[in-house]
Amino acid sequence: MSDATKKRTSRYDLVTPMLPVKDQIMADFERILMSGQYILGHEVKMLEREMADQCGVADAVGVASGSEALYLALAMAGVRPGTEVITTPYTFEATIEAIIMLHARPVFVDILPEDLNMNPELIEAAITPRTRAILPVHIFGAPADMDPIHEIGKKHDLQVVVDMAQAWGTLYKGKPCGAFGRMSTLSFYPTKNLPGIGDGGLIICQQQQDADRIRQLRGHKALWINKNLYCGWNSRLDEIQAMVIRHRLARFEDEQRDRDRVAKIYDKLIPKSQRLAVEDLHTTDKVTYHQYWVRCKARDRLNHLLDSEGIDTGIYYDPPLHHHPLMEYCRIAGSLEMAELAGREVLALPIHAALPFAEAERIGTLVAEFLER
Ligand SMILES: Cc1ncc(COP(=O)(O)O)c(C=O)c1O
Repeated sequence: MSDATKKRTSRYDLVTPMLPVKDQIMADFERILMSGQYILGHEVKMLEREMADQCGVADAVGVASGSEALYLALAMAGVRPGTEVITTPYTFEATIEAIIMLHARPVFVDILPEDLNMNPELIEAAITPRTRAILPVHIFGAPADMDPIHEIGKKHDLQVVVDMAQAWGTLYKGKPCGAFGRMSTLSFYPTKNLPGIGDGGLIICQQQQDADRIRQLRGHKALWINKNLYCGWNSRLDEIQAMVIRHRLARFEDEQRDRDRVAKIYDKLIPKSQRLAVEDLHTTDKVTYHQYWVRCKARDRLNHLLDSEGIDTGIYYDPPLHHHPLMEYCRIAGSLEMAELAGREVLALPIHAALPFAEAERIGTLVAEFLER
């Protein structure tokens, strides 16, 4: 870096995007503080309604985290001890932890090199009499190909639950990702595109009955469903989180516009073959860029160069989950070569609503020049 005192460019800025709503948040904080209603009150109810409406589904239920959302949704979908769930190895470990916590088995199929999402063509070969559900993940905010996944689900009587922890705002063929699958799960972890200021999650439900039952479970109510006894416990969302998330939800489009502009700058500079080729997606798909990634065989050298230029980067899912200690509880269906390659080659660049566009130009130019060499 030419100027040794120059501030590093970090991958996230959790504070600046909060500033336009800071005063409203502080006023609402005082109101909630003095109300005495700290958990599952008006703010949570409004957040659930607003998010369900935006997805055009029956209901949504706020819970304690994205991990708990996955656990509850999979349980509701009938994932039980001894069953299997087909998913991707190129994801955060919470995706498979939820399956394993239910004493079921994650089954890995490979990903598509173009968008790093589960390859739907590999799902049918992974189905066994134990398979209960398919769990796609819209990784880094790019939509998984839901139509074939739904078709396979229908054909084999499997439930589709979607991990959209990284994909609020993402569209698949013009519809919000939350409109697909029997249930979709979200995380409000502070680095997510729609963040809270702590932990939180949401389950988006197509069926009112699922939402009603999850509301009971999240508040310690045990339930009998189809001769199975479900154990309730505490998975509640608090009012402060819901209030902050609602303010960010109202600003989501503005923040997304800034992320989109950064992505466009990178897209212009970086060859299509070495990033998400957004030009080749369905015209009505929308990517929200939870991460913007480049693919590079000399990833570590590129990473080193960017680091020396004061730019923070991220390496994701290297190695993918079939190398995780939890593999003990998982099964592999076919080659996972594309996931291996992604783990070795993918590098995430800074992208957030407060990243100066000139800095995006500088980063994109450095990456493009490196890739050309
Ligand atoms: C794909 C995916 N699934 C699930 C989760 C879990 O969410 P939480 O951290 O809110 O439990 C995350 C969080 O990073 C995630 O990225």
